[in-house]
Amino acid sequence: MTYGAKEIADTLYDYLFANMPQFKSMFTMENNRYVKGPLTVAAFSKVVGMLSQFDRIVPYMKKLGDIHIKRGVRREHYEMFETSFL
Ligand code: HEM
Repeated sequence: MTYGAKEIADTLYDYLFANMPQFKSMFTMENNRYVKGPLTVAAFSKVVGMLSQFDRIVPYMKKLGDIHIKRGVRREHYEMFETSFL
């Protein structure tokens, strides 16, 4: 089996929601899986790919930030997210 972005995302999100069940209600689900998980993993890869082009990273991060603010994500959630992932 190929272990790609989807499998990595599923593993990370299973772990996140097992440890921080309060985040579950923020996410939309389909076929018992969190739809945006692979996009989160892809976003890390995209930013790493843009490291030498800082002018492209800033607008991309602003756009992602706006999406998260609209979804109710706040500063303290990132700290909890980081703790869970590490
Ligand atoms: C560095 C950390 C993070 C990255 C790189 C990231 C990345 C992403 C990406 C790429 C999307 C899809 C955006 C789109 O619709 O195009 C997304 C959606 C989302 N993210 Fe994050 N995210 C991060 C942290 C967080 C945290 C801490 C939370 C809160 C617990 C969160 C909650 C959400 C929610 C609720 C959505 C919408 C998901 C849905 O509709 O099911 N994210 N994130």
